[in-house]
Amino acid sequence: MATTKVAFIGCGGRNGAHVQKCMENLDNIEYVGFCDIEEERAYKYADRVQVDPEGKIFRDYREMLEKTKPDAIFMAVPPHVHGEIEPAIIEKGIPFLIEKPVALDMKTAEHIESLIKAKGLITAAGFQDRYQNLTQIMKDYIKDKKVGLATGAWYGGIPGVWWWRRMETSGGQVVEQNIHIFDQARYLFGEPLYVNCAGARGIVNGDEYGCPGYNVHDYSSAVIKFKSGVICTIFTGCYTKGGPGRQSGMNIYCQDATLEYALRSWLKITDKDGVHEYQRGKEQTGIQDEAFIYAVRTGDTSRILADYSEAVKSLRLTLACNESIETGRTIFF
Ligand SMILES: NC(=O)c1ccc[n+]([C@@H]2O[C@H](COP(=O)([O-])OP(=O)(O)OC[C@H]3O[C@@H](n4cnc5c(N)ncnc54)[C@H](O)[C@@H]3O)[C@@H](O)[C@H]2O)c1
Repeated sequence: MATTKVAFIGCGGRNGAHVQKCMENLDNIEYVGFCDIEEERAYKYADRVQVDPEGKIFRDYREMLEKTKPDAIFMAVPPHVHGEIEPAIIEKGIPFLIEKPVALDMKTAEHIESLIKAKGLITAAGFQDRYQNLTQIMKDYIKDKKVGLATGAWYGGIPGVWWWRRMETSGGQVVEQNIHIFDQARYLFGEPLYVNCAGARGIVNGDEYGCPGYNVHDYSSAVIKFKSGVICTIFTGCYTKGGPGRQSGMNIYCQDATLEYALRSWLKITDKDGVHEYQRGKEQTGIQDEAFIYAVRTGDTSRILADYSEAVKSLRLTLACNESIETGRTIFF
C-alpha cells in the first residue's frame, strides 16, 4: 500500500487525538508537517510520532501546504480561527478532516462549503459520535418506530482552553460542545423545522471558576421540532461544580419503547421483549479517522458519516439556538 502523507493544522488537544488514532489504527502514514502558531506545540507532535522535525515544523499553514504537499490534513484550531485557512487547503485540492464547529457564522461556513463543492473535494467533520456502535444501534432501532419525544443533554464544567469561555472565540457551549448532541439529533430524527431556545447566566462567576472574562451562557434549553414530527428538548450546562454527577446523553421515547443513552458509554432499550443493554464498542474517533483516510486512499467516501456539508447543517441549528436566546424568538429553517 502506498504511503499517505498527512499534516496537522493546530497542534493542541484535539489534533492530539487524531495523531494518536493515526498511530494506533493506521499503517503507512507518513507525518510530513505540523503547523501551529505556537511552534513548540508542533515540535511536541513531531516528538510524539518520533519523526525528525527538520522541515516539518511550521507556523504558517501556507508554507506547510507549499513545502510538504500532504495527501490529507487534520485541522483542529479554535472555532474563531476558521475562514482563511480552508480556502488555501481547498485551492490545493487536499482532502481534510476538520473539527467542529466549522465556523462561528453561516457566511463563512457556506462560502467554504461552496468552494469544497466546486472542487468536489473529500472532507470529513469531527462528529465522532456518529461512528459509535451505540448511535448506529439507536438509528437502526428507531427506523421503523413511531418516535414522539426525545431529550438530550450535555452537562459539565468549563473546559480549560482559553478560547472556550468567550462567545466571540467559541460560540458558547451549544455551538462548541453540545453541537455533538444537536448533530446526533439531526442524524437520528432528520432536519429541523424550527427551534426555540432559552439561555441564562448568573451561576458561573468567571473569577471563581478560574476563567476570568467568561461570558458564555451557563445553561440553556432548546426545543426543536423536526420535520419528521419528533420534538426534542436539549439541555446544555457548564455550571456544574462538585455535587452529584449528571448523566449527559439522550433519551428517546417511542410509541412502544424507550431508549436511554449515556454519552459515549452505554445504551438501554426497554420494549415489550424486555430490557436490552449495550456497551460502547470500538472507540469512535479512531473509526472516524480510518474512514477519512480510507476515502483519501480509495476515493470511496461511503464510510464518512459526516462531511463538511453535514457540519454546516449542525452549525446552522446551534447558531439558531444562540439567535433564539438573544431575540427570544423561534427560529425557522
Ligand atoms: N470532535 C471532538 O470531540 C472535539 C473534542 C475537542 C475539541 N474539538 C474541537 O477541536 C478544535 C480545537 O480544539 P482544541 O481543544 O484542540 O484546542 P487547543 O486550543 O488545544 O488547540 C488549538 C491549536 O490551534 C492552534 N492555532 C490557532 N490558530 C492557528 C493558526 N492560524 N494556524 C495554526 N494553528 C493555530 C493553537 O495555537 C492551538 O495549539 C475546536 O474547534 C474544538 O471544538 C473537537
